Amino acid sequence: MKLKINELTVFTEGDKTKQAIIFVHGFPYDHTMWNNQINYFKNDYYCIAYDVRGLGNSAVGDGQYTMEQYVDDLFEIINVMELSNPVLCGLSMGGYISFRAMEREQRIFKSVIFCDTKSQADSDEIKLVRANKIKQINTEGLAAFTNEFVAACFGKAFQSNSPDIFNKIKTRSTTYNPIGVKGALIAMLSRTDSTKFLPELKIPALLLAGEHDEMTPPTLMKELANIIPNSKFETVPNSGHMSPVENPDFVNKKIKEFLND
Ligand code: MLT
Repeated sequence: MKLKINELTVFTEGDKTKQAIIFVHGFPYDHTMWNNQINYFKNDYYCIAYDVRGLGNSAVGDGQYTMEQYVDDLFEIINVMELSNPVLCGLSMGGYISFRAMEREQRIFKSVIFCDTKSQADSDEIKLVRANKIKQINTEGLAAFTNEFVAACFGKAFQSNSPDIFNKIKTRSTTYNPIGVKGALIAMLSRTDSTKFLPELKIPALLLAGEHDEMTPPTLMKELANIIPNSKFETVPNSGHMSPVENPDFVNKKIKEFLND
């Protein structure tokens, strides 16, 4: 089913009386990056995936976004859909939204899954890189930026072994509104750091990191898992930064084990 909530496009699969899982995508992608998980879990769970403001089919508006607004959007979806104790599952930017959502209201969630992400805010170096990316979009166009960025997200093996999937995702990223993409870059570079909160995160947490993820490497995610009390960490073999897309079988298995624990 497709719904509109607060200008956001929300997709659901499965029976709404079952345990809800909300999937939050990374940047610069949309809800379709979770297709493998939704197909796998839709018979046993109520699966919800939405397009983050500015990306996919959600409203772009003026492109002035903050991480707080992204979290407000998530809470609005939960309230309007009357979801009780959903599981939250976010990748990278979706993970930034999830960390901040935990910091604000962990009690409304059953558990949380962080894929290829981190709790730290952008360093000054990364802020400057983001500023250059915005300049690149303004001067060379969106495709020049997304082609480079998407290639850096996926592991080399996936790019050569699954060129059709990789190219489809890369092409899709060129179709977003540049105002929305730049807005997401600014929301990420201005986000707060949730690391100090992690010892207070008490609900069960699963952290997954692609073996070859250079953006949020397994060593970094393992360190985060070490300070989250009720957490499990897994390295996803044969994967870069997009582990749910690159190695869905392993990711689905680990999520299933975690949910059944
Ligand atoms: C993502 O996959 O969401 C991005 O790599 C996040 C980022 O640029 O920090």
